[in-house]
Amino acid sequence: MQPIMEKTVILAIESSCDDTSAAVIVDGVLRSNVIASQKVHEEYGGVVPELASRAHQQNIVPVVDTALRRAGVTASDLSAIAFTRGPGLLGSLLVGTSFAKGLALAQSIPLIDVNHLQGHIMAHFVEPSEELKAATPSLQPFAGEPLPHPSFPFLCLLVSGGNSQIVLVKAYNDMQIIGQTIDDAAGEAFDKCAKVLGLPYPGGPWIDKLAKQGDPAKYPFAKPNIAGYDYSFSGLKTSFLYTLRDMLKEYGVETIDALAEQVPNLREDMCASLQATVVDILMRKLRKAAKELGIDQVAVAGGVSANSALRQAFIDYGKRYRAKVFIPPFSFTTDNAAMICQAGYFKYLDGDFCAIDEVPYAKTQI
Ligand code: KG4
Repeated sequence: MQPIMEKTVILAIESSCDDTSAAVIVDGVLRSNVIASQKVHEEYGGVVPELASRAHQQNIVPVVDTALRRAGVTASDLSAIAFTRGPGLLGSLLVGTSFAKGLALAQSIPLIDVNHLQGHIMAHFVEPSEELKAATPSLQPFAGEPLPHPSFPFLCLLVSGGNSQIVLVKAYNDMQIIGQTIDDAAGEAFDKCAKVLGLPYPGGPWIDKLAKQGDPAKYPFAKPNIAGYDYSFSGLKTSFLYTLRDMLKEYGVETIDALAEQVPNLREDMCASLQATVVDILMRKLRKAAKELGIDQVAVAGGVSANSALRQAFIDYGKRYRAKVFIPPFSFTTDNAAMICQAGYFKYLDGDFCAIDEVPYAKTQI
């Protein structure tokens, strides 16, 4: 590892929801990315904000300490501290924000606020060190050879538990949402439908897993007809629910477990059909936007970008339309501080710092 003197060293802290994470970038190269996920929410079927804030309080010191140690730096080497200012759960954001402020004051270094959603998009610019890549299989490039980073402009499909957006990315610091969901997010649709099937939270990964053994054409669910580049998933959710309700009635049973005994492969086929419908809805609008705006580079980001069918749809899209597609390594699909650190690094190079009295925000646009 090279000596730290005279280098640009950025520490980033991410605490917007239920993952406490810290990362360090040295001269543009990611040296560490530590994530403590909170298991406490599993038994409640969703994130409990009060418990999330408490767990962040417990995790933040060891997580930051580990990130600095793994990067081979100390607090006194830092050039600046980046933190997620929002959107997210306010109590969770306050933990990371307050910690970042305290450390920045103690070290007399600048503070950089980062929008969480912009962070997800900036994950496509993270350059992990060779040591970190070798130690972290989920940091390996997805599907073969690493591509160079996207060049501007490109379109990014940002899909998570709270957002489904098409973002026109014109520069590191210039992004425009050109389409977004008018009701539920794609991840929310996965999670809610999974809950109806009696699957654990979060349901998205379970749907992905079961869908592998199911027939994607078995249940034709409703697709929205929305103008422009916007999305809607509430109709699909209702269609999913009504399909199950009608089958319960038809078979004269009251529970999904009883229905699954009567209908072979019920859960697998429902998951495969749901997943295929969500992916089709997402890709159609992305294709429309790319075609109409004449853009041949498309990226995907956010928690739902871990979905195997969506990843495959991006690969197919690239082949079919001769487009460059950018799919993040698995480590960068869930919330992580590496992406916040990358956004913070760009802001540092621009001298774009924030005041010590800035406060977090729960909701915001890019
Ligand atoms: O970006 P993210 O980690 O945070 C929130 O927005 O909360 O996204 C979480 C979402 C959840 O809805 C989860 O079910 C979904 O991403 N997700 C998936 C998969 N992995 C995570 N959805 C479908 N397939 C997956 N493999």
